[in-house]
Amino acid sequence: MIRRIALWSALITLPLLLLGAAAGGVLLLRQGGLAPYRVPSGGAITTAGDAAEGAYLARIGNCLTCHTVRGGTAFAGGRPFRTDYGTLYSTNLTPDPKTGLGDWSAEAFRHAMRHGVSRHGVLYPAFPYANFAHLTDADLDALFAYLRTLPPVEARPPPNDLRWPASWRGALVGWRMLHYRPAPLPPAPADAPPEWLRGRYLVDGLGHCAMCHGTRGAQGSLPAEGYLAGGRIPGQGWYAPPLDARQLARYDVDQLADYLVTGNGEHGAAYGSMAEVVYTSLRHLRADDARAMATYLKSVPAHGGEARPDTGRFLYAAAQPVANPHNGGRLYQDHCASCHGDGGEGRGRDYPPLRGAVSVTAPDPVNAVRLVLYGGMPPTTDGNPRPHSMPPFAGRLSNAEIAAIVTHIRRNWGEQDRPVSAADVAAYYGIRGD
Ligand code: HEC
Ligand code: HEC
Ligand code: HEC
Repeated sequence: MIRRIALWSALITLPLLLLGAAAGGVLLLRQGGLAPYRVPSGGAITTAGDAAEGAYLARIGNCLTCHTVRGGTAFAGGRPFRTDYGTLYSTNLTPDPKTGLGDWSAEAFRHAMRHGVSRHGVLYPAFPYANFAHLTDADLDALFAYLRTLPPVEARPPPNDLRWPASWRGALVGWRMLHYRPAPLPPAPADAPPEWLRGRYLVDGLGHCAMCHGTRGAQGSLPAEGYLAGGRIPGQGWYAPPLDARQLARYDVDQLADYLVTGNGEHGAAYGSMAEVVYTSLRHLRADDARAMATYLKSVPAHGGEARPDTGRFLYAAAQPVANPHNGGRLYQDHCASCHGDGGEGRGRDYPPLRGAVSVTAPDPVNAVRLVLYGGMPPTTDGNPRPHSMPPFAGRLSNAEIAAIVTHIRRNWGEQDRPVSAADVAAYYGIRGD
């Protein structure tokens, strides 16, 4: 009897084991096989890269912002990244041999940038290697050559504070098997002009715009179907809109290129994390690169109809809309119209329009609420050296009054009918951001 049971269980478990191994093998192949885990050792430290070009590329890739802690030494790492699984810290990119990239070879650098694996193990996807994988050898060598010109700084980031299993780098192999699908950029249309190709290369590669503008899937992943489709940015609490032809229809290519470089324009002013991106990175764009990015972004097809990812469900704090006793229209006239105009049309480049604005049309009301609570100022750039600001209304208006105003502007100028409640405002009050 016992022998029979053993035989039967073997007959059942063996195929299951084989199936499991086969599925694991397929998933391993899909995330690039074993090649990513073979980190090159040895090799030349010097590169023939163009360090001056590398300095420009480092700005557009925003290496400095992510690899510098507020008030700390440039590129020495230690900036915290808050995730659902705890906090991790960026690394030291200066050529210090002990704590930085001092004894890295150009090949090891290329490998880390392309595959997200270094001598420290598998890297967390807070590092945009999925985007940097698209960079050419010449651009990677230029970046490396530039990083080698920095003064070496001995600095070790604080130890990561992540929950198990995220704290174990080995678990990232499993994450990659489930969620990471490295692939070259899809073939371009045969008649794609060089400007469009350059724009795509910058948006999808160095610019890593999808890190904020992509719709996140399970476990912080960025699935292909959420490509530049917009969503709430993890750890920052801002909503980033889709970047596609429909969202950007109000700009022409020159206006969009101008917005990227100045953070300002007749159709919108950058705020929140986008203000930081413009200030630290995009204001340095060469004019032809800004135009290239704008050309590409305006060609991205909108995620329409059924294919639109469901971002709506977690965006409001209150489960049910609540009746609001305040007259949002009247409050708007009293507190907002002097800058944004009676009809939400704005005032030229000084005060952005609310009609069609990102925060007013977005499915997620968080940006509008946070701006009214805390105010804002677009980044200071050459094209907008003395930006006008918006005052904070927290303390001056009650949560219910703010809710009524935001409901009013979203309903009238954004076609967003769902009312924002005082509970939403309370939830976004003091939202943790960076
Ligand atoms: C959005 C934030 C972000 C940006 C932008 C970014 N990095 Fe990082 N990078 C990180 C984080 C976080 C880590 C640490 C990941 C880990 O420990 O697993 C990291 C790790 C690295 C590593 C691996 C270092 C090691 O010791 O293993 C290299 C190399 C690197 N980054 C280079 C760059 C370069 C070059 C740029 C600019 C082109 C850049 N990064 C831009 C967040 C960023
Ligand atoms: C760190 C997060 C972050 C990154 C990275 C980022 N953005 Fe944004 N972006 C935002 C947020 C948040 C908004 C909404 C606030 C605003 O409109 O200023 C925004 C808004 C925008 C808008 C305004 C859209 C409109 O309809 O007016 C454009 C255009 C834009 N981003 C382009 C880009 C491009 C191009 C890149 C890559 C080079 C990029 N962003 C990278 C966070 C980010
Ligand atoms: C003193 C002028 C001023 C007043 C008054 C003012 N704003 Fe603003 N508003 C601005 C400026 C300037 C910006 C751009 C802020 C930035 O880029 O950080 C802005 C941005 C905004 C945005 C973001 C638009 C977008 O592109 O998504 C919203 C929403 C907004 N204001 C709503 C209001 C509301 C509601 C009130 C009244 C409670 C108000 N503002 C009062 C000047 C003002």
